[in-house]
Amino acid sequence: SMADKAARFAEMKRRGEPIAMLTAYDAPMARAEAAARVDILLVGDSVGTNMLGYASEQEVTLADMAHHTRAVRRGAPDAFVISDLPVATYETPTEAVANARVLAEAGADMVKFEGCRPAIVEALVGAGFAVCGHLGLEPQHHAEKRLKGKQAGEAHQLVEAALTMEKAGIAMLVLELIPEEVAEIVTQRLKVPTIGIGAGRATDGQVLVICDVLGYTKAAFRHNKRYAEVGETMEAAARAYVGDVHSKAFPAAANAFPMNKEQLPEFLA
Ligand code: KIV
Ligand code: NA
Repeated sequence: SMADKAARFAEMKRRGEPIAMLTAYDAPMARAEAAARVDILLVGDSVGTNMLGYASEQEVTLADMAHHTRAVRRGAPDAFVISDLPVATYETPTEAVANARVLAEAGADMVKFEGCRPAIVEALVGAGFAVCGHLGLEPQHHAEKRLKGKQAGEAHQLVEAALTMEKAGIAMLVLELIPEEVAEIVTQRLKVPTIGIGAGRATDGQVLVICDVLGYTKAAFRHNKRYAEVGETMEAAARAYVGDVHSKAFPAAANAFPMNKEQLPEFLA
């Protein structure tokens, strides 16, 4: 079942083994990440702003998420895949269950949604889905991308929300853009693994957006570490191709397909 598959990550937490999660949006990305032994592939709704040219997470639809989840699943048949329920697809327990089913049928092993909504978790778990929570900065609900839980009151609320979500049945919790101290307390208080992004060093795992890791997109974030400059590589390759076409350096004879020699005179006659 979905819950059995997720048990591996609780075991990693108990053993103190850090969990490496990374977003994935299409089949070749998923294939590369699975080959690199990424523990969890996240089909995040960040696909909207990173890959689809949307202005915000608000524009992402369930159909978008299912489409990209299917692509990731085809690229990595054996990987553990989490998919985001996009904005306004989990307003009621009934709606959440119906929409989680769409993501599961597309290939998701676990579904994630934003905010402290214990009734939604209970409905999803009751229907057999494994659930990942997402607290701190909630991009679907917070237009302003600023640090959450910096004040003591807000930090206490966050810890309470995490405990409420665990009690409701989440199997994992993403913590986004919160102080390291708050993430550490939440991580200590929960039995389920915490996965941080901009949440410091103490969480049970880390997640980054693959486009940020690749240097595919131009944005620079303090929380991120760029491991490549794929955007520059892509532009340089496209530029070289354009130059070759314009100068007729491409295609070369080696890229062309000759006709059968005996048939050529007959064809030209
Ligand atoms: O959509 C996403 O990429 C996410 C991560 C930032 C956790 O939700
Ligand atoms: Na997301």
